[in-house]
Amino acid sequence: MSTEFDVIVIGAGPGGYVCAIRAAQLGMKVACIEKRETLGGTCLNIGCIPSKALLQSSENFTEAAHGFAAHGIMLEGVTLDLARMQTRKTEVVTANVRGIEFLFKKNNVTWLKGAAKILGEGQVSVDDTTYHGKSIVIATGSESTPLAGIQVDEDRIVTSTGALDFPAVPGHLVVIGAGVIGLELGSVWRRLGARVTVIEYLDRIVPGIDAEIATAFQRVLTKQGIVFKLGQKVTGATLTDAGVTLTMEPAKGGTATTLEADRVLLAIGRRPHTEGLGLAAAGIATDARGRVVTDAHFATNVPGIYAIGDVIAGPMLAHKAEDEGVALAEMLAGQKPHINYDAIPSVIYTWPEVAAVGATEEDLKAGGVAYTVGKFPFTANGRARAMGSIEGFVKILADAQTDRLLGAHILGPDAGGLIAECVTALEFGASAEDIARICHAHPTLSEAVKEAALAVEGRALHI
Ligand code: FAD
Ligand code: NAI
Repeated sequence: MSTEFDVIVIGAGPGGYVCAIRAAQLGMKVACIEKRETLGGTCLNIGCIPSKALLQSSENFTEAAHGFAAHGIMLEGVTLDLARMQTRKTEVVTANVRGIEFLFKKNNVTWLKGAAKILGEGQVSVDDTTYHGKSIVIATGSESTPLAGIQVDEDRIVTSTGALDFPAVPGHLVVIGAGVIGLELGSVWRRLGARVTVIEYLDRIVPGIDAEIATAFQRVLTKQGIVFKLGQKVTGATLTDAGVTLTMEPAKGGTATTLEADRVLLAIGRRPHTEGLGLAAAGIATDARGRVVTDAHFATNVPGIYAIGDVIAGPMLAHKAEDEGVALAEMLAGQKPHINYDAIPSVIYTWPEVAAVGATEEDLKAGGVAYTVGKFPFTANGRARAMGSIEGFVKILADAQTDRLLGAHILGPDAGGLIAECVTALEFGASAEDIARICHAHPTLSEAVKEAALAVEGRALHI
């Protein structure tokens, strides 16, 4: 097998595999090195895809058990077959990772199995073989951030990986961290019958999300039975015969308390995954948080070595990693692609969902930007009423002088789908009035976006 390539990508997650495919499409000879047994990275194997499979299954279970009666559909004796649900999740993951294998073959990307080590400019080793690449791309992703005093065993005390694989519904699941992972996976197990308590260091949930949306989101999750303990710092966890005893104290200082759990999910963020990659020996610079430092063209300080995805700065999202993979491949081919980091959407796949793009109200206040707000609740949307999903609202933020769209924030049914329109509008520099004047089909949830845009000028029609 050849050891000479135009591009060698390290890591086959959404950043790496997409970069490899795009580079191959552009005529380059490409290899992608992956140390996991399967392609697809965190996202396909232990992240986006398995979590969404379980979110869908658990939502279906909740609907069947509690939601159908309101529609006059009477089901009796709805029971959970968790083993079948987990098998389905695995089938979904397997189909997806096989899909990447197919795409690699179709595009002539060479899949090199094993852990890569960068030897220096243009050289990477896997086991005892040295490969040469004109360009090397670091796309090694991220891993769960540890917490002092908490020993993860992926059984009683787990990261997201363990929480995707519980063999039985925990009696009491305690989640450390009210971020995206904590609330998505907390929702899964709550829906399947667990008592769920979420402990958060800050005095609010989902930092980074517009505060008004976050407050409403917390209210909805609380109604669903999730208990929040905010402003609390977990200081230790002890395994007991029955489960785990957690110790915590108020973040601002105060008396320590304990909490008993059957299982604990640690979800306080993710950190760059660069262990064993040989960054220091190769002289590749990292920042204080361990992220590989790159310029606007994804170049590290070492010529010919680039980095993309979770391992560099920016939101740790699959679509951000993918877009960087495409952009880098095109740059290597001499093209001039561009990523607008102000228009990267984020979605929390709970029910209702949370979706956002652009600035939050807090961002605008901090930046001294004069803005107008338009809001529209799903209670006033006909389709949401027909669905029986009336929680939440759409919030549009526009420039007070120009009416240009600055941000959109949605808590509600299919918020993740609805945000796409706002992403397009933001990317095209649209005004709130542009959205308001576009014809939206009736009855659809998207009318709530149009009405929120109308509300920016105080002329919503249905409220
Ligand atoms: P990764 O997907 O982490 O892939 C990196 C790959 O590199 C891994 O397969 C790793 O094995 C390999 N690797 C590392 N070091 C080496 C080495 N030395 N040699 C060879 N291979 C190596 N994002 C979303 O946008 N939407 C979601 O719904 C979503 N859900 C998530 C749910 C969970 C539970 C988690 C944990 C994450 C989720 N994410 C989601 C985040 C998303 O998974 C990441 O942003 C994305 O996977 C980053 O892609 P990447 O290519 O940078 O890295
Ligand atoms: P996160 O950054 O979303 O949330 C971590 C939370 O833990 C924050 O609220 C933080 O204040 C809190 N925290 C930090 N230290 C703490 C401590 N000592 N005690 C208590 N709370 C503490 O991180 P999370 O949920 O682990 O997810 C990691 C990343 O994975 C996300 O930021 C996101 O980029 C990605 N992801 C994306 C998803 C999506 O797009 N739907 C789904 C899941 C993960």
